[in-house]
Amino acid sequence: MSEILICEVGPRDGLQNAKHRMPTAAKKRWIDALAAAGLREIEVGSFVPPRLIPAMADTAEIVAHARTLPGVKVVALAPNLKGFERAVAAGAHKITFPVSASRLHSEANVHMTPEQMLAEVRQCAALRGAGGPEIEGAVSTAFGCTLQGEVPEDEVVRLAAALARCCDAVALADTVGYANPAQVKRLFRRVRGEIGDKLEGAHFHNTRGLGLANALAAWEEGVRAFDASMGGLGGCPFAPGASGNVITEDLVYMFEAMGVRTGIDLEKLFAARAVLVEGLPEEPVYGHAALAGLPKGFRAAA
Ligand code: COA
Ligand code: ZN
Repeated sequence: MSEILICEVGPRDGLQNAKHRMPTAAKKRWIDALAAAGLREIEVGSFVPPRLIPAMADTAEIVAHARTLPGVKVVALAPNLKGFERAVAAGAHKITFPVSASRLHSEANVHMTPEQMLAEVRQCAALRGAGGPEIEGAVSTAFGCTLQGEVPEDEVVRLAAALARCCDAVALADTVGYANPAQVKRLFRRVRGEIGDKLEGAHFHNTRGLGLANALAAWEEGVRAFDASMGGLGGCPFAPGASGNVITEDLVYMFEAMGVRTGIDLEKLFAARAVLVEGLPEEPVYGHAALAGLPKGFRAAA
């Protein structure tokens, strides 16, 4: 039976857009609970200037903590060389770069054109020595952009191909929740045709309610690695109208119900959700599976 990898991005994508701040000690408790539920990959924060996103000021301490959890791949986002150097110094196992296919979003988000950002990623990849971290290039706004509107698929394919030449893995991200399942199938198929297995991850936002449908469409196209955020927190502060990611609890529930193994224990995942709520009590959390509970006689994937 098939198996997938879910990367929990709540501590980064979720908290960067939250109205309230989660204290460092609460972040650690939440990440501990996520690991205890079986999450094997957790994006724990980003190395961006604290003046831009104060919630990410403690990322180095969070990475150090997460590294003590056995079996957890510790992921951090970096927007430039300085962020990369900070992530390497902190000991992140994997570093993700957001490379926007929309010029307007790229300039708003990282103050660089897509081409300049690509050059930045290349430089970081070249600096990485043996035993250095994995590098992922995530094509942001791959399915459309609130600033620019339509994003040409040719541009997404071109960027993904360029990233595949310097990164270990490439992901496609629907930063603002514009994607639909037909588009997801088409674009993942096109990009896979171009870069093969270097295409790994799918990063969906649930802004228009299509997060799960898009994840299923990507799975049917052979995608086996998904980002998701607990409680549906999330969104890019520099992309107008962005809101939360596909919800981890619902995504795990869907796949486990289908017989696709995630390695995640749903009851323990709901317990981790309680730890999130305890650490960030004012922030609204979303998700159907946790609210409704598991069906009577529910059997997780064997
Ligand atoms: N971490 C900490 N400080 C950083 C930094 C980083 N990654 N990158 C730059 N800085 C510092 C510089 O050292 C400089 O400091 P100084 O004024 O004391 O000399 C200052 O910030 C300005 O540097 P500059 O290179 O001009 O950056 P900028 O202000 O144009 O910002 C980015 C560029 C990429 C750092 C910023 O746009 C960014 O962090 N974007 C990411 C936003 C994000 O997280 N979006 C959501 C996730 S996709
Ligand atoms: Zn996102």
